[in-house]
Amino acid sequence: MSTAPNRPSGSSTTPATSVSEALLTRQSARAFLPTPVPLATVTELLDLARWAPSGSNIQPWRVHALTGAPLQAMVDETLAMAMAGQSPEQEYLYYASPLPEPYLSRRRANGWGLYGHLGIGKGDRAASANQALRNFAFFGAPTALFFFIDAKLAQGSWVDYGMFLQSFMLAARERGLHTCPQAAWLPYHELARRHCGMDATWTLVCGMALGHLDPTEHANAFRTPRLPVSDFLTASGFQETT
Ligand SMILES: Cc1cc2nc3c(=O)[nH]c(=O)nc-3n(C[C@H](O)[C@H](O)[C@H](O)COP(=O)(O)O)c2cc1C
Repeated sequence: MSTAPNRPSGSSTTPATSVSEALLTRQSARAFLPTPVPLATVTELLDLARWAPSGSNIQPWRVHALTGAPLQAMVDETLAMAMAGQSPEQEYLYYASPLPEPYLSRRRANGWGLYGHLGIGKGDRAASANQALRNFAFFGAPTALFFFIDAKLAQGSWVDYGMFLQSFMLAARERGLHTCPQAAWLPYHELARRHCGMDATWTLVCGMALGHLDPTEHANAFRTPRLPVSDFLTASGFQETT
């Protein structure tokens, strides 16, 4: 059985030259350089991502991009809310509640893995909260994206949306850029809609940081594992010769 190469241990800041390379070098970046990303680049990435498939070609996406003063205003307002302990109810459940096994263990391993990598101890609530707050500054990224879906659409359109998001993130890698998709924004959906000029007929799917990864930041050296294919593939009827 052939096996794709594993993800490289270091972050790649050069443009990916193949889909495989884009897949393997995409990581959730959690520290960015201040280098601006022009609107032309954002548009170019969306111009590629829009070719993602969607059932009956519905194309359920709507995106708002922010940079500069409008981004800072949004960051300031959200940070003030989050620091005051205000976390409104999410519009949709990102995680099943309660999260069943084995997913709960994987989620915990991921969270503890990241925080351990950052030197944050399990009981260190202040440092954990501080790291969580970094979400609302987009980890220093100069560009933020908010992805919305028409609230009237059904689950199938959310399947389409995942393809759109991954297409966008892979296209970013081809431009030498990195991303961090962010569900952390979900409690702040009303604030996000207000800053993005969207009305309540649009549900916030997630936020996303976009920019140039800072290769000197330890946070970006965090690597997540994946299950081997043999753990989730079953097959029938194949006649393997080797
Ligand atoms: C829809 C979505 C929402 C996410 N939300 C957050 C988030 O709010 N903050 C964060 O630091 N990472 C977030 N992540 C990143 C995941 O933790 C990350 O994808 C996972 O641990 C695998 O690591 P990798 O992206 O580096 O491969 C999110 C990922 C997805 C797909």
